[in-house]
Amino acid sequence: AHFSEGVSHAKIILIGEHSVVYGKPAIALPLSEVKTTVTIEETYNMPSSIKSRYFDGPLVSMPKAMKGLKHLILLILKKNNKQDFPFTMTIKSDLPAERGMGSSAATAIAVTRALYNFFELELTQEDLLALANVSEIDMHGNPSGLDAATSASNQPVWMIRNQELKEIPIHLDGCLLICDSGIKGKTGEAVASVRNLLEKKPLETSDLLNKLEKLTYDARKQLNNNNIVGLGDTFNRAQEQLTKLGVSDTKLNYLIAVSKRLGSLGSKLTGGGRGGCFICLMPSKKVAQKAASVLKREGATQTWIQPLGITVTE
Ligand code: MEV
Repeated sequence: AHFSEGVSHAKIILIGEHSVVYGKPAIALPLSEVKTTVTIEETYNMPSSIKSRYFDGPLVSMPKAMKGLKHLILLILKKNNKQDFPFTMTIKSDLPAERGMGSSAATAIAVTRALYNFFELELTQEDLLALANVSEIDMHGNPSGLDAATSASNQPVWMIRNQELKEIPIHLDGCLLICDSGIKGKTGEAVASVRNLLEKKPLETSDLLNKLEKLTYDARKQLNNNNIVGLGDTFNRAQEQLTKLGVSDTKLNYLIAVSKRLGSLGSKLTGGGRGGCFICLMPSKKVAQKAASVLKREGATQTWIQPLGITVTE
């Protein structure tokens, strides 16, 4: 094709971040309005190039910070014998980077889809996720695959590492308020720190991971029963365990405490932590909107509201 496009979504982990790396389940959902879009156009007599918010130039000169993506693109070209078909790739994203919304995985998914469209090649879901994880491994060493799987999905998912993904519809009254703490999340560092903690204090740390596992099963039950108050309580308990794991931080803790005074039924960090975003379970859109404006005054830099009652089943 002379032109192609690939799209993916931001992801929000409801519960199970970090413990999912150790084979425990997690629940995550795609945010349909927050997208990454990649377009590719054929070029003539010019080497392939990339346009993105971080870099504009030849593919081969992509900076170190984008090495995962460069690795992914070169791998796809090589795998399909397409090194001699130059193109211009434009990456546009509504996702804030390094905030726990899965921006690196979303980019990898959209880039892979756009390249396969461009070369008119078939792409199975399995290959898509495996390819996206190539760049995720470069980003933070030991990805569970949750970010890529959720970015590529149109449904909330229940995931256990290396097992088949389950799409789970959510029919919950109320909505999710997602807030950016404005602090760069440090997923790589956070994942490494949990691994270190597990080596240093194996018993206590396994206990924390087991508690997160149990809370994730509780959350699934509460979602099934439309028990929003119970789910809020589960979120709060998960935040306590994540704090003990050492992946929260002062600003997150502060904003989370404020959100609870503003009507949140339960609040926790989402994604890698050490900054990044947190989520608040809100009884209604009205309460969420009001809380969002106060949280912004208190230091949150961006907010999103996601209804939880309209997810479709397949
Ligand atoms: C990052 O969004 C989620 C983590 O659980 C890491 C992973 O699943 O690879 C912290």
